[in-house]
Amino acid sequence: MRAVAITTAGGPEVLEVVDVPEPHAGPGEVRIRVAAAAVNPTDTVFRAGWYRREIEDGLPDIPGMDAAGTIDEVGEGVSWSVGDEVMAIVLPTGPHGGAYAAQVVVPGNSVARIPEGSTLVEAATLPMNGLTARLSLDQLALGPGQTLAVTGAAGAYGGYAIQLAKQDGLTVIADASDADESLVSALGADVVVRRGDEVAHRIRTVLPDGVDALADGAVLDGKVLAAIRDGGGLAVVRGWKGPTERGITLHQTFVSRYAGNHEALDRLRQQVEAGQVTLRVADTYDAADAPEAHRRLEAGGTRGRLVLTF
Ligand SMILES: NC(=O)c1ccc[n+]([C@@H]2O[C@H](COP(=O)([O-])OP(=O)(O)OC[C@H]3O[C@@H](n4cnc5c(N)ncnc54)[C@H](OP(=O)(O)O)[C@@H]3O)[C@@H](O)[C@H]2O)c1
Repeated sequence: MRAVAITTAGGPEVLEVVDVPEPHAGPGEVRIRVAAAAVNPTDTVFRAGWYRREIEDGLPDIPGMDAAGTIDEVGEGVSWSVGDEVMAIVLPTGPHGGAYAAQVVVPGNSVARIPEGSTLVEAATLPMNGLTARLSLDQLALGPGQTLAVTGAAGAYGGYAIQLAKQDGLTVIADASDADESLVSALGADVVVRRGDEVAHRIRTVLPDGVDALADGAVLDGKVLAAIRDGGGLAVVRGWKGPTERGITLHQTFVSRYAGNHEALDRLRQQVEAGQVTLRVADTYDAADAPEAHRRLEAGGTRGRLVLTF
């Protein structure tokens, strides 16, 4: 099976096309003939060797957390059928490796049908970041009418966080550069403030009492605390451990917790179909050009996801 993998940690150049044994679906699993795999920031972290344990055995390790394609093998006890067009969240540190592969095996509950009217390339941009935004919102547990701030709002996680929060009935204040202001407004933010290290101060200027919670897609960590009201919540996506202040609760969002949440993934599908969640593709690359896609992602400024095609 053709895959894009690393055998050593490093820059984009360590991503190479390899031939690895075809995986098979065990009980509770499905195998997807992958058409599209999104390129996420976490894939660059994987490639750079943060998960060294995997690399040290010298075997190819396959990155990628988002796949879309057609089911071509089903294990015992799953309700999926060969031929179903699906999207899946993939855990690359799991037993079958990541999504940058012609075929990937995932648990049946990591899969949902692709949204009607979406292509497989578009669908590949939804599972991982959509589920991450959903998990952050569930952790923050705000009610209708409460306020959420979102940083990194023009990004994949940030964009989904805005759109899902609006569907939850929240008021959203989000950050943007000058160039991204119309994009972030179009995603549904009620108020847009200029991004940057001073974003907390800018949010406080608009909302003097502070927001009820903040979803920190820009990974500003402690720099955003001042935007949050006493006793509010902060969802972080890169493991920041605090300390917080003024009784603010820190929520560590790790999407692996929702990797088996079929209901949440299928709800995202429905929200795309209802026009409530937008799938944004910046560009597609042949899988062999994965190094180029990683270089482009790491350069910053990409709006919408880059997607590898197999
Ligand atoms: N823990 C988890 O389970 C989990 C899951 C998904 C994502 N994540 C993490 O969440 C983060 C966001 O992911 P993503 O896919 O949304 O990335 P993305 O699409 O690249 O979006 C990040 C956004 O933040 C902006 N940004 C960067 N530095 C900033 C700053 N100092 N102030 C304001 N904005 C800034 C970026 O702008 P530029 O492009 O102009 O730099 C971009 O618009 C990443 O760190 C990712 O690894 C974690």
